[in-house]
Amino acid sequence: MRPSSILFLTLTLLALVGATANAAEPVGPKLPPQVRSLLVQEMNAILDASEAILGAIVRGQDDVVATKAQAIHDSFVLRQEMTAENRKAFMEAVPPSFVKRDRAFHRLTAELAAAAREENRVRQRRLYAEMIEACTACHSRYASDRFPRLQ
Ligand code: HEC
Repeated sequence: MRPSSILFLTLTLLALVGATANAAEPVGPKLPPQVRSLLVQEMNAILDASEAILGAIVRGQDDVVATKAQAIHDSFVLRQEMTAENRKAFMEAVPPSFVKRDRAFHRLTAELAAAAREENRVRQRRLYAEMIEACTACHSRYASDRFPRLQ
């Protein structure tokens, strides 16, 4: 085999392995409809709050950042308080890695709220950037059916 063919094969294999490692496994379709709808509701609330946070960060409104970041954090708490049945269905449908990512995301929002209360604006901007990374990372991994362009 010519070295160029070997290189081509190796690159193709690497690309395939990479694609498999990032293989999308959307969680939405695995959820019972009413649980999926709760997740979508939470996501829209998160989006609204994130937009408000951006507007507040660029204006130096620490109090608004604190309130909105806390609201995102608390939407997680709301989900924790789903009926036992819904919660069970949710936990059974999503892989542990999704739950871990979700918790890490919500921890970030608590840190952002704290940075805002401390009026630490450099930290707010850093955490906000990390938050947006966390949104897109989770969407590209677990919502590929909804956002195929994130692949
Ligand atoms: C731990 C995973 C995870 C994180 C973190 C996450 N999302 Fe999502 N998001 C999802 C999933 C899964 C869906 C698709 C739900 C479905 O199946 O319809 C979704 C859907 C959405 C939608 C579409 C809702 C609709 O109307 O259908 C929006 C908007 C959204 N997310 C915003 C955000 C924003 C903004 C952030 C970060 C600030 C974020 N999400 C962080 C998992 C996540």
